[in-house]
Amino acid sequence: RMEVTETFAGIALPGHLHTQESLGFAAAFTFRPTDVLIATYPKSGTTWMQEILTLLFSLGDARPAKTIPNWERAPWLEQIYCREALQDTETPRLLTTHLPAHVLAPALQRSKAKVIYVARNPKDVAVSFYHFHHLAKFLPDPSSFDDFLTQFLEGTVHYGSWFDHVKGWLGQRHLLDILYVTYEELHQDLRGTAQRLSTFLGCPLAPGTLAALEQHCSFSAMRDNTMANYSLIPNEIMDHSQGRFMRKGVVGDWRSHFSPEQNALFNRRYQEEMGAMELPSQWPMA
Ligand code: PPS
Repeated sequence: RMEVTETFAGIALPGHLHTQESLGFAAAFTFRPTDVLIATYPKSGTTWMQEILTLLFSLGDARPAKTIPNWERAPWLEQIYCREALQDTETPRLLTTHLPAHVLAPALQRSKAKVIYVARNPKDVAVSFYHFHHLAKFLPDPSSFDDFLTQFLEGTVHYGSWFDHVKGWLGQRHLLDILYVTYEELHQDLRGTAQRLSTFLGCPLAPGTLAALEQHCSFSAMRDNTMANYSLIPNEIMDHSQGRFMRKGVVGDWRSHFSPEQNALFNRRYQEEMGAMELPSQWPMA
């Protein structure tokens, strides 16, 4: 394990990707009006959205997605290599973040940048995140699923509380030019969601773009695309013998992991945290 932790805004983050300097760079970032920022809690559909927007921006040309790693196509604002990755990026810039809203909101509110927030059923997020801890050597070694779930519900996992993340970004709905998309929606209707994205971004849909996008952004195509599936990351950082980044890509895998007791506990916590929230239509939660 190479685990070193950086703490920022009360949240634990992997130290090999983040420093106080890189986090400060993100918080003070000067957004351009043409920037598009993908904001997510981990394991919520980040990589999928990066791929979809790459295909929308390229008008369906799969070459960028097949020749440039996704972390260069849509760099994480808070990660150490971001400044360099953005050096000769043309407009429009595609950016990614896992940071909570309150860190980026002031810079975003000063700009006209667009934000796409992707959310996923937190039960599936917890399962996906648990499995990811086995391959990601920059995250703590997980013990049992039960222990992990307790930490997830307490918000003591890396990247902080799912509830705070989602509530923070939902709270920006009247303050930013922001679109909420769910992982489940992408599953149910990729075409329709891509159309909604193109309208929001003011990005034309060339003939053939949707077909190319559907083909290239399928789970199997992305699992086999080395520029999207993280297989280029060295074994010291991601232990590929422990599983694949593109693990299952399904909705509802929590059902094969949660005991009835875990599910009841989760539902109770969810109700406490989210019960009073006004949620967008299509919001995922069993
Ligand atoms: S990360 O580490 O935060 O960037 O992870 P993130 O990309 O947000 O989430 C990874 C999960 O998304 C699944 N995934 C997909 N599902 C369906 N279709 C496509 N095209 C797709 N691409 C990525 C990926 O398999 C992870 O979910 P799980 O449940 O672990 O399979």
